[in-house]
Amino acid sequence: MSNSKTITLSVNGRIRSLDVPSHRTLLEALRDSGHVDIKRGCEKGDCGACAVLVDEVAIDSCLTLAWMCEGKEITTVSGLGDVENPHPLQTSFKQLGAAQCGFCTPGMVVAARSLLNDNPDPSDDEIRYALSGNLCRCTGYTKILDAVKHAALVMREEGAGQ
Ligand code: FES
Ligand code: FES
Repeated sequence: MSNSKTITLSVNGRIRSLDVPSHRTLLEALRDSGHVDIKRGCEKGDCGACAVLVDEVAIDSCLTLAWMCEGKEITTVSGLGDVENPHPLQTSFKQLGAAQCGFCTPGMVVAARSLLNDNPDPSDDEIRYALSGNLCRCTGYTKILDAVKHAALVMREEGAGQ
């Protein structure tokens, strides 16, 4: 008897059907289907490199079994924006020098997006707490904090202008 299951989910707005063994993580299933913008780090929930939004909330995809995401809406860092039409977080990370090795940054941006979904005007401590599950071995985090604050401001101003 096969222990595989076909699941249907939305990834960055596209409906995907994936054949997944019951033990396959969402990280493995998505990377195996081409979504390599999701980074594979520790694979045990320590680094946050693998973060994606599931129904707009950031989770570690290495700790989530793919079959649990049947019918869910998944957003990766590429789903937030692209070079032609970047998300304010992506623009701020670039402009303020917060994007460094490209390994930790996707998860940082996804975690920040999850925070700003709930809290459009977070304090420094709230940003630090929201990103506390995202590790970078190289930086002091100051530029990342500045980039999230700046993006939050831009998003509030954009919202106020609508
Ligand atoms: S790879 Fe998922 S938390 Fe590190
Ligand atoms: S800049 Fe990404 S791990 Fe240090």
